[in-house]
Amino acid sequence: MSNVLVIGTQWGDEGKGKIVDLLSDQVDIIARYQGGHNAGHTVILNGKQVVLHLIPTGILHAQKKCVIGNGTVIEPCALIKEITGLQKIGINFEERLLISERAHIIMPYHCRADLADNKATGLRHIGTTGRGIGPAYKDKISRIGIQMGDLLDKELFREKLKLNLASYQVEDENKSFERIFSDYNEYADILAPYVCDVSYYLNQAIKEGKRILFESAQGTMLDIDHGTYPYVTSSNATAGGACTGLGIGPQHIHGSLGITKAYTTRVGNGPFPTQADELTAQALRKHGDEYGATTGRPRRCGWFDSLVVNFAVRVSGIQSLAITKLDVLDKSETIKIAVAYEWQGQRIKRFPANLRAVEQCKPIYEELPGWMSSTRGITAMEKLPPAAINYLKRLRELIGVEISVVSTGPTRAETIINKGTKLANWLGL
Ligand code: IMP
Repeated sequence: MSNVLVIGTQWGDEGKGKIVDLLSDQVDIIARYQGGHNAGHTVILNGKQVVLHLIPTGILHAQKKCVIGNGTVIEPCALIKEITGLQKIGINFEERLLISERAHIIMPYHCRADLADNKATGLRHIGTTGRGIGPAYKDKISRIGIQMGDLLDKELFREKLKLNLASYQVEDENKSFERIFSDYNEYADILAPYVCDVSYYLNQAIKEGKRILFESAQGTMLDIDHGTYPYVTSSNATAGGACTGLGIGPQHIHGSLGITKAYTTRVGNGPFPTQADELTAQALRKHGDEYGATTGRPRRCGWFDSLVVNFAVRVSGIQSLAITKLDVLDKSETIKIAVAYEWQGQRIKRFPANLRAVEQCKPIYEELPGWMSSTRGITAMEKLPPAAINYLKRLRELIGVEISVVSTGPTRAETIINKGTKLANWLGL
């Protein structure tokens, strides 16, 4: 039995929530290592849609422990709302949620700065979720951030908050200070029972033979280092983020599972080579319900891009793939896959590191016939229509990584799990 890392291979929204939820039964602990409440993980529980933002979807499984690592950024009020919302539907948090004392806190002035950036019409307009994520990480790197542990130490918090408010040139500083200090002290009292040294906890658990699922948010192409910079989020969504974002050694990660949508979407601005024409995009958006789980923004939709997924496989060492939302393609007569790009008169097969090249390249497509029948809820590969099997085979050939899971609908039951794969072996499926 192994510890497995789950990574988004595109621009986020690949359906990680459902897959993590599905695999949570096989592990003891689910640990989230980066991002904040910009993420939205949608899961169907007893026929009802549940959207989680910061808490790992493993919380929906009684007995499982859930960890929010030091690599995340936490808006305490949003986290408390998430906890109370889940408690209302019967989720028990007692001794089940652990929050790193080193995680950085999102403050009200971070949200204001983020929204102001979104309004500015600069050369590179990112179109963030407006949740204060970038400014909070900026303070972390600038070494002025406020950590969860600081929040519990009222004197230290007072000192840091005063200094930060001055540096953010907040209007009516004294009044702002009093309000934030009082609100955040209240949040600190509510969250205190969950706060601990997450790295120590996880390493002890590993010694005791506990199994862990390491959960990322967003996707490879939104990674601060490897994504389509500057159109990215402000953390490491790729594999390396798990070690730094939780305080564990790489030898404790035994396998990595990439989550890949059967087509591609992107929310926010930035290059997206396989973005489809609006008519095709509208159909995918409608069938796939492609609206941001956090902001409700319509997602840009397009075809599967093998260069993107190959790139994700390379930067995170992905060994197994879960293909999600196959059923969304049920009504597509023809399905396109980008197999290369044309750039400056050349055919290239590797996703370029240079943003200008990504913006200028034109995808070269291979067209496959669609299956024009319902795959919704199918649970065995051999029951899929031949054209759907062909499509998956072609993806497997282009990516060179096993397909261990195929999702054919939003619920846990609507899933094909291929036996004899690395993933099945790691998790005893
Ligand atoms: P931020 O993370 O709010 O700073 O936004 C930076 C970029 O990442 C924007 O393009 C967002 O739309 C995108 N983004 C952030 N979180 C998610 C997510 O969970 N899914 C998809 N895109 C996201």
